[in-house]
Amino acid sequence: MSNLQGKRILLGVTGSVAAYKAAEWVRALVKEDAMVTVVMTKAAERFIAPLTFSALSGNPVYRDMFSDESERVMAHINLSREADAILIAPATAQTIARLSAGGADDLLSTVILAARIPVVFCPAMNSNMLAHPATQENIRRLQHFGYHLVQPDCGSLACGEVGDGRLPEWDVAREALLALFEPNDLMGKKVLITAGPTREPLDPVRFLSNRSSGKMGFALARTARRRGAEVALITGPVSLLDPPGVEVVRVTTAEEMEKAVVSRLEPGQVVVKSAAVADFKPAVYQAHKIKKTSQGLQLDLEKNIDILKKLGEKRLEGQVLVGFAAESRDHTGEGLRKLKEKNLDLIVVNDILGEQTGFDVETNQVTLIDRTGNTALPLLTKEATANRIWDRVVSLLHERGGYGG
Ligand code: CTP
Repeated sequence: MSNLQGKRILLGVTGSVAAYKAAEWVRALVKEDAMVTVVMTKAAERFIAPLTFSALSGNPVYRDMFSDESERVMAHINLSREADAILIAPATAQTIARLSAGGADDLLSTVILAARIPVVFCPAMNSNMLAHPATQENIRRLQHFGYHLVQPDCGSLACGEVGDGRLPEWDVAREALLALFEPNDLMGKKVLITAGPTREPLDPVRFLSNRSSGKMGFALARTARRRGAEVALITGPVSLLDPPGVEVVRVTTAEEMEKAVVSRLEPGQVVVKSAAVADFKPAVYQAHKIKKTSQGLQLDLEKNIDILKKLGEKRLEGQVLVGFAAESRDHTGEGLRKLKEKNLDLIVVNDILGEQTGFDVETNQVTLIDRTGNTALPLLTKEATANRIWDRVVSLLHERGGYGG
């Protein structure tokens, strides 16, 4: 189930070339079972027909303060009352200026002025217009009102220039919407997450690795960001897209992962090590491809450093350390052993043999073990599992006291 399921989104479309992209966003929202109502400005209608939005959303499109049916004479009040959030995409310089001045001279601005629900806005315009101090000041004013800014992308613009001002991809705006419906309980917290496998090279074409897909670690990064954390994600080689708003560092070997982790350690942060770090690496790297000259091949392996154990030994003040344990038997016993041996606050144990809990699947079923006991979670999506882990981390932070989060 998506967290946007059943959410009522009022989409304000304004007059930018990027208005056509908003049609794709409506499709994406509807696909997640969100309910979308579109309000268009007059200028937006010059770029895309209202019919497109009514066909895609399955709802009437609102365009004018005075020309809609009689039962909607109070449309500007009712529309926001009947929504959970407002998304303005694309938001032109003109609309942003109008909103920052508290203007109410068209239906969209009136709806927003009357609204008491969260507002997310996605500026899209020529880069000079965006950089102009007036626009920058207007954007800051909207943020000051509590509206949530989705930063425009940099790239080639419809006007032929290259710069800031592009409407970002849907997944960026989607994250901003999802964040509205999550608690803000990791606000101000720094979170460091590791994900994926590591690869230990043997020769220029071969490596030792494991089946980790990185999905659990990426789900942890996305959900922590939505809950307000400042997230750094250090990942081994995986085929997943960078989560929006997260600092992503891509590494290959355990040694590189260790360096990336150690250089980002800070007191008071939460460290979650969901990476499946290779325990061993080839003792010697062969600079040239190993040829099949003999019958068999003996590989000499040497132990990689246990990154998490090292963090547990040199724990910085106020750090919360969370480990993962991938087990095929004696899950609780092994989890408890690793919790103690690595000096952790929490360990997340999962069964790597389960069909829906193993590698490269969308679900997980884990047991959380800390010093006070065990909690077995049901089978959940990886994002839902991640949220349950954050719930536990937040209560650990509260138990320690001094956490206002
Ligand atoms: N870990 C680590 N560095 C390693 C190996 C593991 O930081 N070289 C971390 C993992 O990211 C995970 C935890 O230690 O959070 C447990 O990893 P796991 O592979 O389950 O256990 P190991 O300690 O490697 O023990 P074993 O392989 O014997 O089960």
